[in-house]
Amino acid sequence: MNSQQPRHVEHQQTDKGYVPVYTTTVVAQPWADYTATDHDVWRQLYERQRALLVGRASDEFLVAQDAMGMTPDAIPKFDDLNEVLRAATGWELVGVEGLLPELTFFEHLANRRFPVTWWIRKPEQLDYLAEPDLFHDLFGHVPLLMNPVFADYMQAYGRGGVKAHGIGPEALVNLTRLYWYTVEFGLIQQNDGLRIYGSGIVSSKGESIYCLDSDAPNRIGFDLERIMRTRYRIDTYQKTYFVIDSFEQLMQATGPDFRPLYERLASQDSYAAGDVLDSDQVFHRGSGEGWSSDGDV
Ligand code: PHE
Ligand code: FE
Repeated sequence: MNSQQPRHVEHQQTDKGYVPVYTTTVVAQPWADYTATDHDVWRQLYERQRALLVGRASDEFLVAQDAMGMTPDAIPKFDDLNEVLRAATGWELVGVEGLLPELTFFEHLANRRFPVTWWIRKPEQLDYLAEPDLFHDLFGHVPLLMNPVFADYMQAYGRGGVKAHGIGPEALVNLTRLYWYTVEFGLIQQNDGLRIYGSGIVSSKGESIYCLDSDAPNRIGFDLERIMRTRYRIDTYQKTYFVIDSFEQLMQATGPDFRPLYERLASQDSYAAGDVLDSDQVFHRGSGEGWSSDGDV
């Protein structure tokens, strides 16, 4: 038996600023140790987001979340969710203490394991925290793993990550942009309009509204190579969202071997997060209101 208490690993303040800390340990979810406050934070966030997301999140997301049996009543037990998830798509959740090094993260995905941070944010962090916590990971990422096409995309991404890691840091930058603009901040075109599927959006009240309702950001049609050249924002809402037609489109576009693509991209400049190109399929050209000029990564 593992008697070690899981740690809560977070960003740390150092002389180089506020830096992420990485950990590779897989831990059992210490469910009995969650406090009444932890369960209450889950309940508040869950109720607030579900109310907001009906009509905003993709039907696939909402259907999948209901099918998993997540409720606001208490922080779900990973073991319970795993029974449902394994039966649906063969994915399983594993508990982690915080951010994983890239290769470790890719290897989990490649094996249909999704790492979920076991701890949840504090009541004063309902609107923002600098790193993924249980709410972001579980509420944001896990539901779509019930969707067979998206489930395959995530595994393919993990395999692609292991491969890109072996090719080099530039390939990884290109691939990470794809993850950012699809898995974390993707929009999807539904019959009745644009909807959200990105986890970074569905777990944020402010961005769930902003990404669809604000005039400020660009909303542009999905284009693999274009996305892989586009820098992004980590500390503000996105300047640009990319819109897919369907998860099938995502699967198809990312099916081919990326090696030749990485080679071509290596000699090309990147685009700023807010750029609009002549070749873009523009759903909405952002007004740029409120954008800060620095800070693309
Ligand atoms: N086809 C990609 C490659 O060869 C793998 C991949 C699939 C990457 C899906 C991302 C998403 O690297
Ligand atoms: Fe995430």
